[in-house]
Amino acid sequence: MDIDKIIKERHSVRAYIEKNIEQNIIDEINKDIEEYNAIGDLNIQFITNEPNAFGKSFLADFGKFKNASNYIALIGRKCDKLDEKIGYFGEKLVIKAQSLGLNTCWVGGTYSKKNTKYDIKKDEKLVCVIAIGYGENNGKERKLKDISSVASSDVEMPDWFLKGVEFALYAPTALNQQRYKITLKDNKVEIVSKLGFYTKVDLGIIKCHFELGAGKEHYSFKY
Ligand SMILES: Cc1cc2nc3c(=O)[nH]c(=O)nc-3n(C[C@H](O)[C@H](O)[C@H](O)COP(=O)(O)O)c2cc1C
Repeated sequence: MDIDKIIKERHSVRAYIEKNIEQNIIDEINKDIEEYNAIGDLNIQFITNEPNAFGKSFLADFGKFKNASNYIALIGRKCDKLDEKIGYFGEKLVIKAQSLGLNTCWVGGTYSKKNTKYDIKKDEKLVCVIAIGYGENNGKERKLKDISSVASSDVEMPDWFLKGVEFALYAPTALNQQRYKITLKDNKVEIVSKLGFYTKVDLGIIKCHFELGAGKEHYSFKY
């Protein structure tokens, strides 16, 4: 998988064509979900062929979605780190989907939780969903921030750090807010998010992208 290409070609897609996702692709994504649920103590579920998923009943506030009948329900046991874990593992699934020729869009807004197909236990929370399917198109490029506006370093930035930051700049964030800072200090990388709407989920997404760009051999995250 050409990770550079995948990261750069991924854009949020909200309008899909009416085409079922092939079973072998569903199986492949489910295999990853199983792995991430085990590592992250999560209960992520891939719901396919639910034509009402993004209709009035499910995503009441998001009329701009079209033909979105598949989604990944990002669910996990309530804990302090849940949102960040969901961001990290959810984005891995987004990247996998992109590599398999699918399009996606994170959806974090408020929506009705009636008539849904996923299972959720009492001590769990549905953090977000990811709409997934074959897009009418591949979405639009957006303007990227400058490296200097999100990253700083106490030495000249090494190539691996720059690559990690570059990948982070391509990451989706809620409302495209990009409220995070990446710092290299005393040979250690720190990524922090500011307060805001879904910024903890964004933080997990940014960590996922940074890790893919920088390479784990230079720096590894807790997950
Ligand atoms: C946590 C999160 C929540 C999001 N929620 C919504 C949403 O509710 N509705 C929507 O249309 N887009 C949503 N988005 C998509 C962002 O608007 C999008 O990622 C951002 O504008 C950057 O565009 P890009 O993904 O094409 O790079 C969300 C993204 C993230 C990461």
